[in-house]
Amino acid sequence: MRVVLAPMEGVLDHLMRDLLTQVGGYDLCVTEFVRVVDQVISDKGFYRLCPELINAGVYGCTTKVGTPVRVQLLGQEPDYLAENAVKAIELGSQGIDLNFGCPAKTVNKSRGGAILLKDPENLYRIISAVKAAVPHDAIVSAKMRLGYEDKNLALENAQAVQSAGANELTIHARTKVEGYKPPAHWQWIAKIKEQVTIPIIANGEIWNLADAEQCRLVSNCTDIMVGRGALAVPNLAKIIKRENTKMPWQEVRLLLAKYTEYETSGAKNKYYPNRIKQWLKYLKLQYVEADELFSEIRTLKTAQAIQEKL
Ligand SMILES: Cc1cc2nc3c(=O)[nH]c(=O)nc-3n(C[C@H](O)[C@H](O)[C@H](O)COP(=O)(O)O)c2cc1C
Repeated sequence: MRVVLAPMEGVLDHLMRDLLTQVGGYDLCVTEFVRVVDQVISDKGFYRLCPELINAGVYGCTTKVGTPVRVQLLGQEPDYLAENAVKAIELGSQGIDLNFGCPAKTVNKSRGGAILLKDPENLYRIISAVKAAVPHDAIVSAKMRLGYEDKNLALENAQAVQSAGANELTIHARTKVEGYKPPAHWQWIAKIKEQVTIPIIANGEIWNLADAEQCRLVSNCTDIMVGRGALAVPNLAKIIKRENTKMPWQEVRLLLAKYTEYETSGAKNKYYPNRIKQWLKYLKLQYVEADELFSEIRTLKTAQAIQEKL
């Protein structure tokens, strides 16, 4: 079984990838999406969202403990996506992931993410262009939802992903309209799996071992991807692999301190107050202590004040 750490824009940056892969159990990370419009992104642009590329020539594009990191691209123009895919691979990315799930309004207005699911041709054109442009052995994966408004095109979209030559497909088992509201429709993944043969990674609403087991059973998938659950319980991947039980709060506190050290010592200092509050919002779901801590720092605005409280 592989457990993949989900891409989460604005939350799962390289510092969080580092922290969570150090805790362990993850087999692959996907970056926050890199927006592609009508140009080739600069090296700096790629390094900003995927600093793991900077030393990729020496260590491969991995987190500090060696977990592979794959760049995710989001856009609608096959040619620009293909050119940027080539560039990301040249910089060292461990494959390319293409985003067909993002629900954000601004993204959809300029057509990217989940809106492309309205016509399977979109997926086919983009993936074929990317696949044709990158070296033969480069992995091209796609990440899709079950549809935009409804699930009528779920099978066709997955088939388009496969016929365009993608190596694997992650399915977040909800439509765009369903947002992040439970449940995730894992049974739909099983339906799709009957029709396509490429590896499928099941995603959505996995918060603990029982969810993971149920998801794997219902979706008929071996591999899974976790997002919010990984932020709520930092050792979720190890729990799912039956290597650990839930991390005690004292250890989570140490991780919060480590994260604070990371974030406040780097250029990202100005984001720290928001990032730590966002993380605590997820931790609150699983630890009452996080709830208390969140109330204490909720109104604090500077990194220093929060750091002192921690
Ligand atoms: C704050 C946030 C940001 C996200 N950013 C991305 C993204 O950049 N690319 C992407 O493909 N999915 C993104 N997602 C979707 C997640 O990767 C994942 O599919 C979704 O959260 C369902 O999995 P989960 O229930 O394990 O969280 C995001 C989700 C959230 C909540």
